[in-house]
This record gives sequence, structure tokens and C-alpha cells, in this order.
Amino acid sequence: MIVVTGASGNLGGHVIASLLEKVPAAKIIATVRNVEKAGDLAKLGIHLRQADYAKPATLAAAFAGAEKVLLISSNELGERVAQHQAVINACVAANVKLLAYTSLLRADTSTLSLASDHLATEQAIRSSGLPFVFLRNGWYQENHTEALGPALQHGAILGAAGDGKFAAATRADYAAAAAAVLSGQGHENKVYELVGDEAYTLSELAAEVSKTAGTAVAYQNLPPAEYEKALLGFGLPAPVAAMLADSDAGAAKGELESASRDLRSLLGRSTTALAQSIRSAIQTK
Ligand SMILES: NC(=O)c1ccc[n+]([C@@H]2O[C@H](COP(=O)([O-])OP(=O)(O)OC[C@H]3O[C@@H](n4cnc5c(N)ncnc54)[C@H](OP(=O)(O)O)[C@@H]3O)[C@@H](O)[C@H]2O)c1
Repeated sequence: MIVVTGASGNLGGHVIASLLEKVPAAKIIATVRNVEKAGDLAKLGIHLRQADYAKPATLAAAFAGAEKVLLISSNELGERVAQHQAVINACVAANVKLLAYTSLLRADTSTLSLASDHLATEQAIRSSGLPFVFLRNGWYQENHTEALGPALQHGAILGAAGDGKFAAATRADYAAAAAAVLSGQGHENKVYELVGDEAYTLSELAAEVSKTAGTAVAYQNLPPAEYEKALLGFGLPAPVAAMLADSDAGAAKGELESASRDLRSLLGRSTTALAQSIRSAIQTK
């Protein structure tokens, strides 16, 4: 049995869809915090189980019979290391044969504030003695394409990344790579640095958005503190605004760029082009 945690999330949904192309539904267990809210998953014929990372008592039953587990990192900043440790403990108790974890690009050397939780989780997984795979995901293209409405309205994309490049990839591509690992063989104790084939600056992003939308959109670079303030002004929670400003400042120094071709190699094809993601985002607006 293959268990996917966080299956009600954006990445989790893509992982389940990709896995269904490779293994029978009866071999897939999706874990979610709230089973009532996950009716669409239940309709797919997969097993649905409840698991809350913050409630260790829910985890033993969730992982019973698991052979391989994908731990999708929690989105609860500040709580993640303890939550992930609870999942690791449950995987040890269930004697799983492979624990895959969605980490961060170069989590061991990255200076991004996001990296510390991921590195601590990787270290906890190594200490557990379980066979593991670290899927070190780079930036999601969707972080740049999902909410283009205000950018088109105001003719500006704000950021603090300067000329730093983002070798971003779509969630669907990261998910397909995770499904390839979970349904394949020979990935034990591998560390994959996963990025898109194409890296772009935020000025290049703005130019591509302008071209596709037929509306002039310019990139406006701000000092990280100003960008954080702007994000707070848009109503983002303080930890998220701080994390995004820090990530852009890191991108300016190359922290979200990489020449790794691990993602392309796991997919067996090129990664989704930025232009295509922008086209889809604008068409579905
Ligand atoms: N690389 C990037 O650019 C990037 C960007 C954003 C996030 N991330 C990371 O990648 C992860 C997956 O991305 P995503 O887009 O799928 O995020 P998402 O849509 O926010 O999904 C996060 C998932 O984590 C689950 N979760 C949170 N706390 C939990 C808990 N205590 N117990 C069990 N499940 C819990 C959520 O469950 P509910 O449905 O019950 O809320 C949801 O299914 C994120 O959680 C974050 O760590 C990476």
C-alpha cells in the first residue's frame, strides 16, 4: 500500500491523480485531516483515512499496512518539525519500507528561512533509520501564476528578488515525480533536487504575462522589508509575508535556481514551460 499524506491539499491532489495512472486505486491510501471534506477523493476508489500531524494518536491507524509513505510537508509554519516527527514515529511503528518527504531545494545548505524546518525533518528521517527519499522541491510556478488578477489590474508584479532566477516547476510536475518515485524501484536513500528546466527572473515573468494577456505588466523590485509591508497590506498573515519576502531575498542570491535535471529525469519529459502555465492561469481566470 502507498500512503499519501496531505491528500486534500493542492500538491496531494496532483500526487493522487498521477499515482492513479500508475497503480490500482485499491493500493492507494490518502490521509486527510478532515474526512468529511474529502468526498472527491473517496469517489476515486482509493482508501481514505484520517490523520492529523498534530494529533499523534490518529497516526498509528492511518499508517497501518503502509509499505511506502509520501509525507507532504505541513503548511503550518512554526509547528512543522514536531508534526513531521510524529509522522516519522508512526512510520517507524508501521515498519514502512520507504518514506518519501517533500523537502526544499538544497535544504542542507539553503539560506532561506524555510530551509530550517525541512533540514530538521530530513535529519529526523535519517535518524529514524527508515529508507527514505528526499524530494527537494524548488519554487512552485503557481506562486507566480495563481493570482495574476491584481498584477493585470495594476500593471505591476511586486517582488524583492532583483535579477534572481526562479527555476520553478508546476505542482503537477513535482507530483508526477513523487508518483514516479512511489510507484518505481531503486529510489532508497536518494536525494533529488527538483527544479524546472527553465529559470526566469521576475522581469521575465512580467514580460511573459504582458505578452500572453496583451496588457502591459512591469516588474517592480522592492527592498525585502518594503515588499513584506506590501504583502501585509494585501492581507497576508505576518509569517507568510515574512517568509515570502525572505524567499525573494534568497532568490536574488540564487537560492531558487539550480541546473539539476533530476525532475526532468524522473518525469521522462521536459518540465512544463512558464508560458504554458501563464496561458492556463489567464484562461481559467
Ligand atoms: N515549493 C513551494 O513553492 C511551496 C509553496 C507552498 C507550499 N509548499 C510546501 O509544500 C506543501 C504542499 O503544498 P500544497 O500546495 O499542497 O499546500 P496546501 O494546498 O496548503 O496543502 C497542505 C496540506 O497539508 C495538510 N496539513 C496541514 N496541517 C496538517 C496537519 N496538522 N495534519 C495533517 N495534514 C495537514 C493540509 O490539510 P487540510 O486540507 O486539512 O488543511 C493540506 O492537505 C505545503 O504544505 C508546504 O509545506 C511549498
